[in-house]
Amino acid sequence: MDHRIVTTHELSEDKETISLRPRWLHEYIGQEKAKEKLEIFIQAAKIRNEPLDHVLLHGPPGLGKTTLAGIVANEMGVQMKVTSGPAIERPGDLASILTNLNENDVLFIDEIHRIHRTVEEVLYSAMEDFALDLMVGKGPSAQSIRLDLNHFTLIGATTRAGQLSSPLRDRFGVPINLELYRVENLLEIIHRSAEILNIPIESQGAEEIAIRSRGTPRIANRLLKRVRDYAQVRGRGVITKEQAEEALNLLEIDHYGLDQLDRRILETMILQFSGRPVGIDTIAASVGEERITIEDVYEPYLMQIGFLQRTPRGRVPSKKAYDHLHLPYTKE
Ligand SMILES: Nc1ncnc2c1ncn2[C@@H]1O[C@H](COP(=O)(O)OP(=O)(O)OP(=O)(O)O)[C@@H](O)[C@H]1O
Ligand SMILES: [Mg+2]
Repeated sequence: MDHRIVTTHELSEDKETISLRPRWLHEYIGQEKAKEKLEIFIQAAKIRNEPLDHVLLHGPPGLGKTTLAGIVANEMGVQMKVTSGPAIERPGDLASILTNLNENDVLFIDEIHRIHRTVEEVLYSAMEDFALDLMVGKGPSAQSIRLDLNHFTLIGATTRAGQLSSPLRDRFGVPINLELYRVENLLEIIHRSAEILNIPIESQGAEEIAIRSRGTPRIANRLLKRVRDYAQVRGRGVITKEQAEEALNLLEIDHYGLDQLDRRILETMILQFSGRPVGIDTIAASVGEERITIEDVYEPYLMQIGFLQRTPRGRVPSKKAYDHLHLPYTKE
């Protein structure tokens, strides 16, 4: 699935020589609720000269969780250490990361829902008491020792908050939910990125890209670069509405930002299951994609644009989806 131009996952081409990542809260576009919370809690922590309480960032891929963690560290004036849940293999690995943090530093753990159980248990006392309880030695001579740590802020990022155990979830004082971006926010992001990358773009061209970016800044930035290529080769180097349209059609991204796989999901639901409620596992098997990918990546966007509804009995395609695929809507 990483061959999809509209994948929300980070591709090597997304890694930039010039950084598009905002570094301060005021540069971070959209997500007003998240920004307001963080602004208040960061200021309060700074006034008290304490670390910020632990933050849990939750939301689909590519919405700016890593970016936001970097901003928090920057605003707090501290260093950030980055790791991920599956990368911390043993409690000892976590211990060495934690003992190397300076006072008030940020520890960013990406994909925190994938953290190993044994590591997670050590994390509890670290988060709560800034101390580590470690067992040294084996057998009857084994001893538990307590190690004091510097104060720190844990920022956990996850696409699936539901998979976090409740003891872990409860230890985050600041839960933050990121939502898919509205078109006007994406538009602003595209203009900002175009300016940084020195890409001439007309506002209608930017709009064309924004509406096809699936509510995701990572996709917006990626499409901007591909459309730039097209404009340079086929046009005068300026991204106009026409050029954006042509480039995006060439990439087989339709007016809603849907690609082949999205369309296949909807077609399967409509043609194979006649629009009746259908389970996520059945959909996944029918289109040959993993359930997790469908749930994390495709479904949120299809739901946001009103093509798909989640009901207690399964997923149901809406009339809008039928219309978009030019299929007759037969239900009352
Ligand atoms: N609010 C924003 N304003 C401007 N640009 C943004 C914003 N949010 C994200 N971006 C851009 O989108 C890109 C993706 O963001 P980021 O890597 O932080 O996503 P993520 O949520 O951590 O994704 P993943 O879940 O895959 O790790 C960044 O390179 C950044 O340039
Ligand atoms: Mg990330």
